[in-house]
Amino acid sequence: MDNTRAKIAVEKGNIIGKVDKYVFGSFAEHLGRCIYNGIYEPNHKEADEYGFRKDVMELVKELGIPIIRYPGGNFVSSYRWEDGIGPVENRPKRLDLAWRSLETNEVGVNEFAHWCKRVGAEPMMAINLGTRGIESALDLLEYCNHPSGTYLSDLRIRHGYQQPHNIKVWCLGNEMDGTWQVGHKTPTEYGRLAAETARAMRMVDPDLKLVSCGSSHTLMDTFPEWEVETLSHTYDVVDYISLHQYFDNECGDSADFLAQSLETDRFIKTVIAVCDYIKAKKRGKKDIMLSFDEWNLWYHSKNQDDNTMKNNPWNTSPRLLEDVYTFEDALLVGCMLITFLKHADRLKMACMAQLVNVIAPIMTEVGGGLCRQTTFYPFLHASKYGRGNSLYSFVVSPKYDTKRFTDVPYLESVVVENEETGDLTLFAVNRNLEETMIVDLHINGFEHYQFKEHIILSSDDLNAVNTPKNPNTVMPYLSNDTVMHLDGGHFEIILGKASWNVVRFCRTPLQ
Ligand code: AHR
Repeated sequence: MDNTRAKIAVEKGNIIGKVDKYVFGSFAEHLGRCIYNGIYEPNHKEADEYGFRKDVMELVKELGIPIIRYPGGNFVSSYRWEDGIGPVENRPKRLDLAWRSLETNEVGVNEFAHWCKRVGAEPMMAINLGTRGIESALDLLEYCNHPSGTYLSDLRIRHGYQQPHNIKVWCLGNEMDGTWQVGHKTPTEYGRLAAETARAMRMVDPDLKLVSCGSSHTLMDTFPEWEVETLSHTYDVVDYISLHQYFDNECGDSADFLAQSLETDRFIKTVIAVCDYIKAKKRGKKDIMLSFDEWNLWYHSKNQDDNTMKNNPWNTSPRLLEDVYTFEDALLVGCMLITFLKHADRLKMACMAQLVNVIAPIMTEVGGGLCRQTTFYPFLHASKYGRGNSLYSFVVSPKYDTKRFTDVPYLESVVVENEETGDLTLFAVNRNLEETMIVDLHINGFEHYQFKEHIILSSDDLNAVNTPKNPNTVMPYLSNDTVMHLDGGHFEIILGKASWNVVRFCRTPLQ
Protein backbone atom coordinates (compact mmCIF):
# COMPACT_ATOMS: atom_id res chain seq x y z
CA MET A 1 0.00 0.00 0.00
CA ASP A 2 1.10 3.56 -0.73
CA ASN A 3 2.51 4.93 2.55
CA THR A 4 1.55 8.43 1.63
CA ARG A 5 -2.21 8.11 1.12
CA ALA A 6 -5.07 7.44 3.54
CA LYS A 7 -8.87 7.74 3.62
CA ILE A 8 -11.33 8.82 6.26
CA ALA A 9 -15.12 8.71 5.91
CA VAL A 10 -17.62 9.88 8.50
CA GLU A 11 -21.38 10.03 8.37
CA LYS A 12 -23.61 12.59 10.09
CA GLY A 13 -25.54 10.91 12.89
CA ASN A 14 -23.16 7.96 13.15
CA ILE A 15 -22.12 8.86 16.67
CA ILE A 16 -19.81 7.01 19.09
CA GLY A 17 -20.87 9.19 21.99
CA LYS A 18 -20.99 12.65 23.42
CA VAL A 19 -17.58 13.83 24.55
CA ASP A 20 -17.87 14.54 28.27
CA LYS A 21 -16.29 17.84 29.28
CA TYR A 22 -14.53 15.98 32.11
CA VAL A 23 -12.31 14.30 29.49
CA PHE A 24 -10.30 17.52 29.50
CA GLY A 25 -9.52 17.32 33.20
CA SER A 26 -6.19 17.79 34.93
CA PHE A 27 -4.46 16.83 38.14
CA ALA A 28 -2.68 18.86 40.83
CA GLU A 29 -0.85 16.89 43.51
CA HIS A 30 1.10 18.06 46.52
CA LEU A 31 4.24 16.93 44.74
CA GLY A 32 7.42 18.80 43.86
CA ARG A 33 6.59 22.25 42.49
CA CYS A 34 3.02 21.63 41.38
CA ILE A 35 1.29 23.40 44.27
CA TYR A 36 4.14 25.17 46.10
CA ASN A 37 6.28 27.27 43.75
CA GLY A 38 3.91 26.28 40.98
CA ILE A 39 0.33 27.49 41.23
CA TYR A 40 1.08 29.03 44.65
CA GLU A 41 4.07 31.35 45.04
CA PRO A 42 3.17 34.16 47.43
CA ASN A 43 6.40 36.11 46.91
CA HIS A 44 6.14 36.16 43.15
CA LYS A 45 5.39 39.51 41.50
CA GLU A 46 2.41 37.85 39.76
CA ALA A 47 0.93 36.55 43.03
CA ASP A 48 -2.59 37.66 43.87
CA GLU A 49 -3.84 38.51 47.36
CA TYR A 50 -4.13 34.78 48.12
CA GLY A 51 -0.58 33.92 47.02
CA PHE A 52 -1.54 32.27 43.71
CA ARG A 53 0.27 33.23 40.52
CA LYS A 54 -2.01 35.11 38.11
CA ASP A 55 0.12 34.26 35.07
CA VAL A 56 -0.27 30.55 35.87
CA MET A 57 -4.00 31.01 36.33
CA GLU A 58 -4.22 32.61 32.89
CA LEU A 59 -2.62 29.58 31.21
CA VAL A 60 -4.81 27.18 33.19
CA LYS A 61 -7.87 29.12 32.03
CA GLU A 62 -6.59 29.06 28.45
CA LEU A 63 -6.65 25.24 28.60
CA GLY A 64 -10.36 25.31 29.50
CA ILE A 65 -9.96 22.67 32.19
CA PRO A 66 -13.31 21.71 33.77
CA ILE A 67 -12.10 19.51 36.65
CA ILE A 68 -8.84 19.08 38.59
CA ARG A 69 -7.98 16.02 40.66
CA TYR A 70 -6.51 16.85 44.08
CA PRO A 71 -4.48 16.43 46.38
CA GLY A 72 -2.90 13.22 45.01
CA GLY A 73 -1.77 10.81 43.75
CA ASN A 74 0.48 8.88 46.05
CA PHE A 75 0.52 11.89 48.37
CA VAL A 76 -3.09 11.36 49.41
CA SER A 77 -2.51 7.92 50.91
CA SER A 78 -0.89 9.30 54.06
CA TYR A 79 -2.49 12.76 54.02
CA ARG A 80 -4.52 14.20 56.89
CA TRP A 81 -6.83 16.75 55.31
CA GLU A 82 -7.39 18.49 58.67
CA ASP A 83 -3.74 19.63 58.58
CA GLY A 84 -4.62 21.96 55.71
CA ILE A 85 -7.49 23.92 57.27
CA GLY A 86 -7.73 26.84 59.72
CA PRO A 87 -5.18 29.59 60.34
CA VAL A 88 -2.10 28.91 58.22
CA GLU A 89 0.29 29.73 61.06
CA ASN A 90 -1.15 26.87 63.12
CA ARG A 91 -0.90 24.24 60.42
CA PRO A 92 1.55 21.44 61.12
CA LYS A 93 4.52 20.56 58.95
CA ARG A 94 4.55 16.86 58.10
CA LEU A 95 6.68 14.30 56.35
CA ASP A 96 5.21 13.41 52.99
CA LEU A 97 6.18 9.76 52.68
CA ALA A 98 5.20 9.39 49.03
CA TRP A 99 7.67 11.95 47.70
CA ARG A 100 10.04 12.13 50.69
CA SER A 101 9.28 15.84 50.99
CA LEU A 102 8.28 18.30 53.69
CA GLU A 103 4.59 19.27 53.55
CA THR A 104 3.92 22.73 55.03
CA ASN A 105 0.15 22.56 54.56
CA GLU A 106 -0.01 26.23 53.53
CA VAL A 107 -2.45 25.14 50.84
CA GLY A 108 -5.34 22.89 51.80
CA VAL A 109 -8.78 22.00 50.53
CA ASN A 110 -10.29 25.49 51.04
CA GLU A 111 -7.54 27.33 49.22
CA PHE A 112 -7.58 24.79 46.42
CA ALA A 113 -11.36 24.82 45.98
CA HIS A 114 -11.33 28.62 45.95
CA TRP A 115 -8.52 28.67 43.37
CA CYS A 116 -10.42 26.16 41.22
CA LYS A 117 -13.44 28.43 41.16
CA ARG A 118 -11.29 31.30 39.94
CA VAL A 119 -9.84 29.25 37.06
CA GLY A 120 -13.29 27.94 36.10
CA ALA A 121 -12.70 24.35 37.21
CA GLU A 122 -14.22 22.11 39.85
CA PRO A 123 -12.11 20.05 42.24
CA MET A 124 -12.17 16.26 42.04
CA MET A 125 -11.29 15.18 45.53
CA ALA A 126 -9.28 12.07 46.30
CA ILE A 127 -9.68 10.57 49.75
CA ASN A 128 -7.07 8.74 51.78
CA LEU A 129 -7.84 5.02 51.84
CA GLY A 130 -4.22 4.18 52.64
CA THR A 131 -3.75 5.17 56.26
CA ARG A 132 -7.35 6.26 56.83
CA GLY A 133 -10.87 5.20 55.94
CA ILE A 134 -14.59 5.78 56.21
CA GLU A 135 -14.60 8.23 59.10
CA SER A 136 -12.11 10.70 57.70
CA ALA A 137 -13.80 10.52 54.27
CA LEU A 138 -17.15 11.36 55.87
CA ASP A 139 -15.61 14.19 57.86
CA LEU A 140 -14.02 15.69 54.77
CA LEU A 141 -17.28 15.39 52.85
CA GLU A 142 -19.23 17.10 55.64
CA TYR A 143 -16.60 19.82 55.98
CA CYS A 144 -16.61 20.53 52.25
CA ASN A 145 -20.21 20.06 51.20
CA HIS A 146 -22.62 20.41 54.11
CA PRO A 147 -24.14 23.91 54.12
CA SER A 148 -24.09 24.64 57.88
CA GLY A 149 -25.33 23.65 61.31
CA THR A 150 -22.95 20.77 62.03
CA TYR A 151 -19.61 20.83 63.79
CA LEU A 152 -17.57 20.43 60.60
CA SER A 153 -19.65 22.63 58.29
CA ASP A 154 -19.64 25.38 60.91
CA LEU A 155 -15.90 24.92 61.27
CA ARG A 156 -15.53 25.57 57.53
CA ILE A 157 -17.63 28.72 57.92
CA ARG A 158 -15.43 29.84 60.81
CA HIS A 159 -12.46 29.28 58.51
CA GLY A 160 -13.91 31.86 56.15
CA TYR A 161 -15.79 29.69 53.66
CA GLN A 162 -19.48 30.43 54.14
CA GLN A 163 -20.58 28.57 51.02
CA PRO A 164 -20.06 24.81 50.76
CA HIS A 165 -17.61 23.75 48.05
CA ASN A 166 -20.13 21.29 46.60
CA ILE A 167 -17.49 18.85 45.40
CA LYS A 168 -19.29 16.30 43.26
CA VAL A 169 -16.58 13.91 42.08
CA TRP A 170 -14.61 11.85 44.61
CA CYS A 171 -11.84 9.27 44.08
CA LEU A 172 -11.90 6.39 46.51
CA GLY A 173 -8.15 6.29 47.19
CA ASN A 174 -5.25 6.20 44.75
CA GLU A 175 -3.39 3.29 43.11
CA MET A 176 -4.12 0.97 46.01
CA ASP A 177 -2.80 -1.99 43.97
CA GLY A 178 0.76 -0.62 44.11
CA THR A 179 3.22 -1.81 46.73
CA TRP A 180 4.70 1.73 46.70
CA GLN A 181 1.39 3.07 48.02
CA VAL A 182 1.20 3.79 51.75
CA GLY A 183 -1.48 1.40 52.98
CA HIS A 184 -1.36 -0.74 49.82
CA LYS A 185 -4.14 -3.33 49.75
CA THR A 186 -5.12 -6.61 48.20
CA PRO A 187 -8.05 -6.32 45.77
CA THR A 188 -10.42 -7.84 48.32
CA GLU A 189 -9.27 -5.51 51.09
CA TYR A 190 -9.58 -2.49 48.82
CA GLY A 191 -12.87 -3.57 47.27
CA ARG A 192 -14.50 -3.95 50.68
CA LEU A 193 -13.15 -0.68 52.07
CA ALA A 194 -13.99 1.30 48.93
CA ALA A 195 -17.52 -0.12 48.80
CA GLU A 196 -18.22 0.63 52.46
CA THR A 197 -16.74 4.12 52.17
CA ALA A 198 -18.84 4.80 49.06
CA ARG A 199 -21.98 3.50 50.76
CA ALA A 200 -21.43 5.79 53.74
CA MET A 201 -20.64 8.80 51.55
CA ARG A 202 -23.83 8.21 49.58
CA MET A 203 -25.80 8.34 52.84
CA VAL A 204 -24.64 11.96 53.03
CA ASP A 205 -25.27 12.68 49.34
CA PRO A 206 -26.66 10.01 46.99
CA ASP A 207 -25.75 12.12 43.94
CA LEU A 208 -21.99 12.08 44.42
CA LYS A 209 -19.94 10.74 41.51
CA LEU A 210 -17.54 8.13 42.87
CA VAL A 211 -14.46 6.60 41.27
CA SER A 212 -13.24 3.11 42.22
CA CYS A 213 -9.47 2.62 41.93
CA GLY A 214 -8.37 0.57 38.97
CA SER A 215 -4.87 -0.70 38.24
CA SER A 216 -1.86 1.63 38.35
CA HIS A 217 -0.83 0.42 34.92
CA THR A 218 -1.29 -2.50 32.58
CA LEU A 219 2.00 -4.15 33.56
CA MET A 220 0.84 -4.81 37.11
CA ASP A 221 0.74 -8.55 37.78
CA THR A 222 -2.74 -8.10 39.20
CA PHE A 223 -4.17 -6.41 36.07
CA PRO A 224 -7.02 -7.02 35.15
CA GLU A 225 -7.91 -9.34 38.03
CA TRP A 226 -7.74 -6.27 40.29
CA GLU A 227 -10.58 -4.67 38.29
CA VAL A 228 -12.65 -7.89 38.42
CA GLU A 229 -12.32 -8.37 42.17
CA THR A 230 -12.62 -4.73 43.27
CA LEU A 231 -15.58 -3.99 41.01
CA SER A 232 -17.37 -7.07 42.25
CA HIS A 233 -17.48 -5.19 45.58
CA THR A 234 -17.94 -1.62 44.34
CA TYR A 235 -20.14 -2.02 41.22
CA ASP A 236 -23.39 -0.98 42.92
CA VAL A 237 -22.01 2.10 44.63
CA VAL A 238 -19.59 3.70 42.15
CA ASP A 239 -19.91 5.46 38.80
CA TYR A 240 -16.40 5.16 37.38
CA ILE A 241 -13.30 3.00 37.55
CA SER A 242 -9.91 4.67 37.17
CA LEU A 243 -7.14 3.97 34.65
CA HIS A 244 -3.58 5.29 34.92
CA GLN A 245 -0.93 5.19 32.21
CA TYR A 246 2.41 6.88 31.61
CA PHE A 247 4.66 6.33 28.61
CA ASP A 248 8.36 6.81 28.05
CA ASN A 249 10.86 6.77 25.21
CA GLU A 250 13.76 5.24 27.01
CA CYS A 251 14.80 3.12 24.03
CA GLY A 252 14.82 6.18 21.74
CA ASP A 253 12.89 4.52 18.90
CA SER A 254 10.47 7.21 17.75
CA ALA A 255 8.31 4.99 15.52
CA ASP A 256 7.80 2.55 18.38
CA PHE A 257 7.32 5.40 20.86
CA LEU A 258 4.48 6.93 18.83
CA ALA A 259 2.73 3.57 18.55
CA GLN A 260 2.19 3.38 22.31
CA SER A 261 -1.29 4.88 22.15
CA LEU A 262 -2.36 1.51 20.74
CA GLU A 263 -1.65 0.28 24.26
CA THR A 264 -3.99 2.98 25.59
CA ASP A 265 -6.69 1.71 23.25
CA ARG A 266 -6.15 -1.89 24.38
CA PHE A 267 -6.20 -0.82 28.04
CA ILE A 268 -9.52 1.00 27.59
CA LYS A 269 -11.09 -1.96 25.77
CA THR A 270 -9.96 -4.40 28.47
CA VAL A 271 -11.35 -2.28 31.29
CA ILE A 272 -14.67 -1.84 29.45
CA ALA A 273 -14.80 -5.63 29.03
CA VAL A 274 -14.26 -6.15 32.76
CA CYS A 275 -16.91 -3.55 33.66
CA ASP A 276 -19.40 -5.26 31.36
CA TYR A 277 -18.51 -8.69 32.71
CA ILE A 278 -19.23 -7.55 36.27
CA LYS A 279 -22.44 -5.87 35.09
CA ALA A 280 -23.56 -9.15 33.51
CA LYS A 281 -22.55 -11.17 36.56
CA LYS A 282 -24.54 -8.89 38.83
CA ARG A 283 -27.48 -8.67 36.42
CA GLY A 284 -26.78 -4.96 36.69
CA LYS A 285 -28.44 -2.18 34.78
CA LYS A 286 -25.81 0.53 34.76
CA ASP A 287 -22.61 0.83 32.80
CA ILE A 288 -19.52 1.69 34.78
CA MET A 289 -17.75 4.57 33.06
CA LEU A 290 -14.01 5.02 32.70
CA SER A 291 -12.02 7.75 34.42
CA PHE A 292 -8.55 7.90 32.90
CA ASP A 293 -7.54 10.07 35.79
CA GLU A 294 -3.77 9.93 35.32
CA TRP A 295 -2.25 9.92 31.88
CA ASN A 296 0.82 11.41 30.30
CA LEU A 297 4.48 10.80 29.47
CA TRP A 298 6.92 10.51 32.34
CA TYR A 299 10.56 9.68 31.79
CA HIS A 300 12.83 12.66 31.19
CA SER A 301 13.21 13.35 34.92
CA LYS A 302 13.25 9.84 36.38
CA ASN A 303 16.96 9.41 37.22
CA GLN A 304 17.18 12.85 38.74
CA ASP A 305 14.03 12.21 40.83
CA ASP A 306 15.43 8.99 42.30
CA ASN A 307 18.58 10.86 43.21
CA THR A 308 16.71 13.79 44.83
CA MET A 309 14.44 11.57 46.90
CA LYS A 310 17.30 9.33 48.02
CA ASN A 311 20.07 11.83 48.66
CA ASN A 312 18.28 15.07 49.46
CA PRO A 313 14.94 14.21 51.08
CA TRP A 314 12.46 16.16 53.26
CA ASN A 315 12.56 19.50 51.47
CA THR A 316 9.60 21.66 50.55
CA SER A 317 8.77 21.82 46.83
CA PRO A 318 11.81 19.91 45.56
CA ARG A 319 12.30 19.72 41.80
CA LEU A 320 10.61 16.40 41.08
CA LEU A 321 9.11 14.99 37.87
CA GLU A 322 10.07 18.15 35.97
CA ASP A 323 9.98 16.60 32.52
CA VAL A 324 10.79 19.02 29.72
CA TYR A 325 8.72 17.70 26.84
CA THR A 326 9.93 17.33 23.30
CA PHE A 327 8.01 17.85 20.10
CA GLU A 328 7.59 14.10 19.62
CA ASP A 329 6.15 13.88 23.14
CA ALA A 330 3.42 16.26 21.97
CA LEU A 331 2.64 13.90 19.11
CA LEU A 332 2.09 10.98 21.47
CA VAL A 333 -0.04 13.16 23.75
CA GLY A 334 -2.08 13.97 20.63
CA CYS A 335 -2.46 10.27 19.82
CA MET A 336 -3.64 9.58 23.38
CA LEU A 337 -6.20 12.37 23.21
CA ILE A 338 -7.51 11.06 19.90
CA THR A 339 -7.80 7.60 21.47
CA PHE A 340 -9.85 9.06 24.34
CA LEU A 341 -12.19 10.80 21.89
CA LYS A 342 -12.65 7.53 20.01
CA HIS A 343 -14.00 6.02 23.24
CA ALA A 344 -16.39 8.87 24.02
CA ASP A 345 -19.19 6.42 24.80
CA ARG A 346 -17.48 4.95 27.89
CA LEU A 347 -14.50 7.14 28.70
CA LYS A 348 -16.21 9.96 30.51
CA MET A 349 -13.38 11.49 32.49
CA ALA A 350 -9.62 11.92 32.06
CA CYS A 351 -7.00 13.95 33.90
CA MET A 352 -3.74 14.84 32.30
CA ALA A 353 -1.12 14.35 35.01
CA GLN A 354 -0.26 16.91 36.04
CA LEU A 355 -0.96 20.63 35.66
CA VAL A 356 2.08 22.72 36.56
CA ASN A 357 5.81 21.82 36.70
CA VAL A 358 5.25 18.16 37.59
CA ILE A 359 5.02 16.24 34.27
CA ALA A 360 2.95 19.19 33.18
CA PRO A 361 1.92 21.27 30.17
CA ILE A 362 2.85 24.45 32.08
CA MET A 363 6.38 25.11 33.39
CA THR A 364 7.27 27.97 35.72
CA GLU A 365 10.48 29.42 37.09
CA VAL A 366 10.60 30.36 40.75
CA GLY A 367 10.46 34.16 40.80
CA GLY A 368 10.53 34.13 37.01
CA GLY A 369 8.53 33.44 33.89
CA LEU A 370 6.65 30.46 32.58
CA CYS A 371 6.00 28.63 29.34
CA ARG A 372 3.62 26.40 27.49
CA GLN A 373 5.35 23.06 27.02
CA THR A 374 5.03 21.29 23.65
CA THR A 375 2.31 19.06 25.12
CA PHE A 376 0.24 22.11 26.03
CA TYR A 377 -0.90 22.50 22.43
CA PRO A 378 -2.60 19.20 21.56
CA PHE A 379 -4.37 19.37 24.92
CA LEU A 380 -5.45 22.97 24.26
CA HIS A 381 -6.77 22.10 20.79
CA ALA A 382 -8.62 19.00 21.98
CA SER A 383 -10.17 20.91 24.88
CA LYS A 384 -11.17 23.83 22.64
CA TYR A 385 -12.41 21.97 19.57
CA GLY A 386 -13.06 18.43 20.81
CA ARG A 387 -16.39 19.09 22.51
CA GLY A 388 -19.48 17.62 20.92
CA ASN A 389 -20.26 14.24 19.43
CA SER A 390 -17.41 11.95 18.51
CA LEU A 391 -18.20 10.29 15.17
CA TYR A 392 -17.38 6.81 13.95
CA SER A 393 -14.76 7.01 11.22
CA PHE A 394 -14.08 4.52 8.49
CA VAL A 395 -10.30 4.83 8.14
CA VAL A 396 -7.96 3.24 5.63
CA SER A 397 -4.37 3.96 6.54
CA PRO A 398 -1.00 2.48 5.60
CA LYS A 399 0.57 0.66 8.53
CA TYR A 400 3.98 -0.16 9.98
CA ASP A 401 5.52 -2.56 12.46
CA THR A 402 7.88 -1.82 15.35
CA LYS A 403 9.71 -3.83 17.98
CA ARG A 404 6.63 -3.97 20.19
CA PHE A 405 3.71 -3.24 17.88
CA THR A 406 2.35 -4.57 14.61
CA ASP A 407 -0.07 -2.93 12.19
CA VAL A 408 0.39 0.56 13.56
CA PRO A 409 -1.63 2.97 11.40
CA TYR A 410 0.45 5.92 10.22
CA LEU A 411 -2.73 7.95 10.51
CA GLU A 412 -4.32 8.38 13.94
CA SER A 413 -7.52 10.39 13.70
CA VAL A 414 -10.97 11.21 15.01
CA VAL A 415 -13.75 13.58 13.95
CA VAL A 416 -15.91 15.53 16.42
CA GLU A 417 -19.07 17.43 15.55
CA ASN A 418 -20.07 20.30 17.78
CA GLU A 419 -23.80 20.64 17.18
CA GLU A 420 -23.98 23.93 19.09
CA THR A 421 -21.42 25.81 17.01
CA GLY A 422 -22.01 23.74 13.90
CA ASP A 423 -18.26 23.09 13.62
CA LEU A 424 -16.77 19.79 12.54
CA THR A 425 -13.18 19.07 13.55
CA LEU A 426 -10.74 16.44 12.39
CA PHE A 427 -7.86 15.70 14.76
CA ALA A 428 -5.06 13.80 13.07
CA VAL A 429 -1.51 12.70 13.76
CA ASN A 430 0.71 11.55 10.91
CA ARG A 431 3.04 9.06 12.61
CA ASN A 432 5.13 8.78 9.47
CA LEU A 433 8.50 10.33 10.39
CA GLU A 434 9.73 10.53 6.81
CA GLU A 435 6.82 11.31 4.53
CA THR A 436 3.90 13.60 4.03
CA MET A 437 0.47 11.95 3.90
CA ILE A 438 -2.47 12.89 1.69
CA VAL A 439 -5.81 12.17 3.31
CA ASP A 440 -8.98 11.81 1.33
CA LEU A 441 -11.74 12.97 3.70
CA HIS A 442 -15.42 12.32 3.05
CA ILE A 443 -17.82 14.04 5.44
CA ASN A 444 -21.10 12.49 4.40
CA GLY A 445 -24.15 14.45 5.45
CA PHE A 446 -22.01 17.58 5.80
CA GLU A 447 -21.94 18.38 2.07
CA HIS A 448 -22.72 22.03 2.74
CA TYR A 449 -19.66 22.43 4.97
CA GLN A 450 -16.63 24.47 4.06
CA PHE A 451 -13.04 24.43 5.21
CA LYS A 452 -12.36 26.86 8.06
CA GLU A 453 -8.76 26.39 9.23
CA HIS A 454 -5.90 23.93 9.48
CA ILE A 455 -3.84 24.21 12.68
CA ILE A 456 -0.53 22.37 12.58
CA LEU A 457 2.09 21.50 15.16
CA SER A 458 5.25 20.31 13.46
CA SER A 459 9.00 20.63 13.79
CA ASP A 460 12.11 19.53 11.91
CA ASP A 461 13.53 18.47 15.23
CA LEU A 462 11.68 15.71 17.09
CA ASN A 463 13.61 16.73 20.21
CA ALA A 464 12.73 20.43 20.12
CA VAL A 465 11.48 21.79 23.47
CA ASN A 466 9.96 24.97 24.90
CA THR A 467 11.38 26.43 28.09
CA PRO A 468 10.61 29.61 30.07
CA LYS A 469 13.74 31.16 28.46
CA ASN A 470 12.85 29.96 24.93
CA PRO A 471 9.08 29.56 25.13
CA ASN A 472 8.20 29.62 21.44
CA THR A 473 10.38 26.99 19.78
CA VAL A 474 7.44 24.66 19.14
CA MET A 475 4.28 26.58 18.31
CA PRO A 476 1.14 25.79 16.34
CA TYR A 477 0.59 27.67 13.11
CA LEU A 478 -2.15 28.01 10.51
CA SER A 479 -1.83 26.75 6.98
CA ASN A 480 -3.88 27.86 3.97
CA ASP A 481 -2.63 25.57 1.25
CA THR A 482 -2.95 22.11 2.80
CA VAL A 483 -6.68 21.51 2.40
CA MET A 484 -8.38 21.27 -0.99
CA HIS A 485 -12.16 21.18 -1.40
CA LEU A 486 -12.77 18.68 -4.20
CA ASP A 487 -16.55 18.67 -4.15
CA GLY A 488 -19.45 18.67 -1.61
CA GLY A 489 -18.21 16.88 1.52
CA HIS A 490 -14.98 15.70 -0.13
CA PHE A 491 -11.64 17.20 0.82
CA GLU A 492 -7.99 16.38 0.26
CA ILE A 493 -5.77 17.20 3.20
CA ILE A 494 -1.99 17.22 3.35
CA LEU A 495 -0.54 16.13 6.69
CA GLY A 496 3.15 16.89 7.07
CA LYS A 497 5.48 14.14 8.27
CA ALA A 498 5.38 13.72 12.07
CA SER A 499 2.67 16.29 12.67
CA TRP A 500 -0.34 17.09 14.84
CA ASN A 501 -3.24 18.53 12.85
CA VAL A 502 -6.56 20.13 13.66
CA VAL A 503 -8.66 20.64 10.54
CA ARG A 504 -11.83 22.60 11.13
CA PHE A 505 -14.92 22.85 8.95
CA CYS A 506 -18.02 24.97 9.38
CA ARG A 507 -21.47 25.27 7.88
CA THR A 508 -21.56 27.32 4.72
CA PRO A 509 -23.52 30.48 5.52
CA LEU A 510 -26.84 30.65 3.65
CA GLN A 511 -26.45 32.73 0.48
O1 AHR B 1 1.47 11.61 38.85
C1 AHR B 1 2.56 11.12 39.57
C2 AHR B 1 2.22 9.86 40.35
O2 AHR B 1 1.99 8.81 39.45
C3 AHR B 1 0.99 9.89 41.21
O3 AHR B 1 1.20 10.43 42.45
C4 AHR B 1 0.64 8.43 41.32
O4 AHR B 1 -0.73 8.22 41.52
C5 AHR B 1 1.18 7.82 40.05
O5 AHR B 1 1.94 6.70 40.30
